Amino acid sequence: MTTQRWRLDGQLALVTGASAGIGRAIAAELMGFGATVLMAARDESTLDSVREELQAEVRDGEAHVFAADVADADDRRALLDWVEDFGDGLHILVNNAGGNLTRAATDYSEQEWRDIFEVNAFSALELSRYAHPLMTRHATSSIVNVGSVSGLTHVRTGVAYGMSKAAMHQMTRNLAVEWAEDGVRVNAVAPWYIRTRRTSPKLADPDYLDEVLMRTPMGRVGEPAEVAAAVAFLCLPAASYITGECIAVDGGFLRYGF
Ligand SMILES: NC(=O)c1ccc[n+]([C@@H]2O[C@H](COP(=O)([O-])OP(=O)(O)OC[C@H]3O[C@@H](n4cnc5c(N)ncnc54)[C@H](OP(=O)(O)O)[C@@H]3O)[C@@H](O)[C@H]2O)c1
Repeated sequence: MTTQRWRLDGQLALVTGASAGIGRAIAAELMGFGATVLMAARDESTLDSVREELQAEVRDGEAHVFAADVADADDRRALLDWVEDFGDGLHILVNNAGGNLTRAATDYSEQEWRDIFEVNAFSALELSRYAHPLMTRHATSSIVNVGSVSGLTHVRTGVAYGMSKAAMHQMTRNLAVEWAEDGVRVNAVAPWYIRTRRTSPKLADPDYLDEVLMRTPMGRVGEPAEVAAAVAFLCLPAASYITGECIAVDGGFLRYGF
């Protein structure tokens, strides 16, 4: 009984942006807990090779891949049609795919800032809405949104990214309340600097890294597996009374005043 509260055996999980960084780590973690993981990203050959790596890393792990751009409405529909074809609804959705273009607020073209919203916020809402009828086939299911500390305070990401992640956090709270009666829990995580291919170029600048570390009580950046652990916890039956919550994975960044 206790063990089952900390397992995801027999559960089907969809993870977007699963071929690299935080998404790859989430896929590995969920597989480790026994879930069958459906991995989506745009580049199919990378997805294929990551699936092979994960199946070799995780004993008895099962993963499937689908190439889709979550910013594209037709791709989103095709992705959920593919999920539906597995015939078992959906237990877990992790909205992880995201993107950014950092500029001064006055330098964005309208299309640029709208594109940031599409990939970060609108895609997560649409995928959640499409997933809802699949998730309600089960008594309980779970959505986790990968937000960001930038949706909670100013960091130097540019206004569009911060606004889009704030929208994701509020979407988490709204859907959690609306879908509680359907058995769908909706939560979020808010990472600070995590070492991925996205952040590595910036963190390679020693002066910039020093500034980041000065603002991080734990004195280091995070690893993708540390975000994945929080996401997996929120998906587990052990988290059955947690919804509408946001866990910061930030080495204390948000709690650091002066
Ligand atoms: N790293 C950090 O410090 C940090 C901090 C806070 C929040 N986050 C959030 O964490 C999430 C993952 O970031 P990361 O650093 O792990 O990024 P990453 O290493 O660049 O990996 C991004 C993943 O998402 C996929 N992807 C990107 N755009 C996509 C799209 N339009 N449709 C489908 N898949 C897409 C990429 O594959 P393809 O390119 O093949 O599509 C890849 O699998 C993002 O939402 C990001 O905002 C990251």
